[in-house]
Amino acid sequence: MPQSTQIAITGAAGQIGYQLAFRIASGQLLGYGQPLTLRLIEIAPAMKALEGVAMELADCAFESLHEVIISDRLEEGFRGAEYVFLVGAKPRGPGMERSDLLAENARIFSRQGAVLNEQADERAKVLVVGNPANTNALIAASNAPDMDPRNFSAMTRLDHNRACAQLAARTGHHVSSVERMIIWGNHSATQYPDLSQALVDGEPAMALVDAGWARGEFIATVQQRGASVIEARGTSSAASAASAAIDHMRDWAHGTRDGDWVSMAVPSDGSYGAPDGVYFSYPVRCADGAWEIVQGLDPDEFSRDRIRMTGEELLEERNAANELAL
Ligand code: NAD
Ligand code: LMR
Repeated sequence: MPQSTQIAITGAAGQIGYQLAFRIASGQLLGYGQPLTLRLIEIAPAMKALEGVAMELADCAFESLHEVIISDRLEEGFRGAEYVFLVGAKPRGPGMERSDLLAENARIFSRQGAVLNEQADERAKVLVVGNPANTNALIAASNAPDMDPRNFSAMTRLDHNRACAQLAARTGHHVSSVERMIIWGNHSATQYPDLSQALVDGEPAMALVDAGWARGEFIATVQQRGASVIEARGTSSAASAASAAIDHMRDWAHGTRDGDWVSMAVPSDGSYGAPDGVYFSYPVRCADGAWEIVQGLDPDEFSRDRIRMTGEELLEERNAANELAL
């Protein structure tokens, strides 16, 4: 019997956590039947709700699920964790930008980085979902000096999936036929969804859609999709966010499809003119548990301009985080 893989989720009784825990327990991250332990973390006032989540997990009688540990102590929750989903944070409401959450959420991620450094498996893969995700990833990684910053990433996979879905709908193809989508930069309204490299059923997307749509409505729809969901549901995306979190971690751990890539916010190395020292969403290929930024693309002036704008916003967020002295 292989050892049980240790998977930690913060905010596990929240909207996203409630989806994520069950999908992982059913085998959708590691593969059906692969033994796993869920280490579910909440703040003290939400522990009763988390007890309910644990009851329901038991009642599912999942074959993969070997143990559920619930805790409001990060030290216990992160102990030996190999995959870490940092979800627990305040979500934005109508009329807010994600960066409005920085002051409240940054403190959470600095402490979590420090405890991960002490308690998690040193090669743990850490995915930051809580907003503002890119800057929270930077804060967490900066507080975990013994961990490789490359083992932290922030989630732009939901934006990537949204962009693929929009392109599929526009061209009348199934979403599975879309490849090589890119989300550049910040998980915010400045992100740059770029379909200039995308293929639909192997054909260049730009040959199938008009340039006005590709540079106008398509970009705006993806940038504003989170706000549109909030307006429609009265609360932020949850099932789609949990689904994207599993896609992100699964591809990181098990590899991207041959010939394709995905979008992940990772430590910038300055590629494509992005600023250094921020977590920037790039097209990445994953193999053997590691990611590499796709090189050799040649973004045009329109794209470079948008890459610069979203990079500037990340620098502003980094400065704001520095002022909080975390
Ligand atoms: P939610 O309010 O439903 O749940 C958050 C949970 O986190 C709550 O149960 C809360 O008790 C818990 N929590 C708060 N502080 C915590 C801490 N310090 N430690 C552990 N748990 C803590 O919110 P949600 O809808 O699940 O969203 C969670 C976060 O994910 C928000 O910041 C939201 O904006 C973000 N989000 C990001 C993306 C993305 O694409 N990156 C997508 C959707 C939502
Ligand atoms: C999303 O993109 O749906 C999330 O980041 C939630 C939000 O605040 O928009």
